[in-house]
Amino acid sequence: MTKPNVYVTRMIPQKGLDMVHDFCDAEVWEGETPPPREVLLERVKGRDGLLPLLTDTVDAVLMDAAGPQLKVIANYAVGYDNIDVAAATERGIMVTNTPGVLTETTADFAFALLMAAARRIVEGMAYVHAGRWQTWGPKLLLGQDIHGATLGIIGMGRIGSAVARRAQGFDMRILYHDPYCREDRGAAVGAQCVDLDTLLSESDFVSIHVPLTDETHHMISAEALNKMKPSAVLINTARGPVVDPDALYAALKGGVIAFAGLDVTEPEPLPGEDKLLTLSNIIICPHIASASVATRTKMATMAATNLIAALKGERPPNLVNPAVIAV
Ligand code: DGY
Repeated sequence: MTKPNVYVTRMIPQKGLDMVHDFCDAEVWEGETPPPREVLLERVKGRDGLLPLLTDTVDAVLMDAAGPQLKVIANYAVGYDNIDVAAATERGIMVTNTPGVLTETTADFAFALLMAAARRIVEGMAYVHAGRWQTWGPKLLLGQDIHGATLGIIGMGRIGSAVARRAQGFDMRILYHDPYCREDRGAAVGAQCVDLDTLLSESDFVSIHVPLTDETHHMISAEALNKMKPSAVLINTARGPVVDPDALYAALKGGVIAFAGLDVTEPEPLPGEDKLLTLSNIIICPHIASASVATRTKMATMAATNLIAALKGERPPNLVNPAVIAV
């Protein structure tokens, strides 16, 4: 029997790749960086399945380049703003993602950024490495307390809730804003649902956990930043374009807010000459919040399971567009 023909756009952890190779006739892009658009357009031709990363734009043009036999796009990410889901549904293509397995790891990292920002860990390390440590100083690298502070969580989904659980352990007051104001999720973690303005104006730390959509694009604008405390710290581990980068730069430079900790940026990758990198009150990491060995391996097996299920004609466990089944 001929195996389904699939394209995998990067070397995902081996356990997932082995599953794909066992069931499919697979080609894998082996480059460190994503396949260039023209290569992707060429390599997807005639494939039954595609396993892309969040760095690959999977739009209608790419789907049409693949051809009408394309059955599934199994994203190696929980976020799927890189995929035109409506276009996939119209074409009867299943889209899947990797929810749940990266929740705790991402929440760990959001909290790590929050703590590093509050307690100036990166600055402290640079200070020691530069040979500047002369003595214990009563005013040396003073930061902010985390315990007892107010944390504002924008988006009380899985990851937002997991961040809130960590904050409970630090005796923080927890506010959240969520379009659906999920009272059950808030109650479970001792968090109070408030409107966005209240969250912005009362929080010492604001952590973003919403997907990137038309509604959340540049949701953290100059206007939003102006509502925050001058001592506030902004943490973003969701998607870069939720924050307007020009507005953030101006706010950090002008003392509108005190500090930012970003794992995601606009654009990604952030060019080495970006003006945000000239600031001392920011920590920027290269989109690594889910980057633990165990979690990335689970994401790989989950993406492979979704891909294989769809190719077998079954409903994949993490189907993003159930409407496709009726198409
Ligand atoms: C995702 O899965 O959407 C993250 O951004 C990367 O793990």
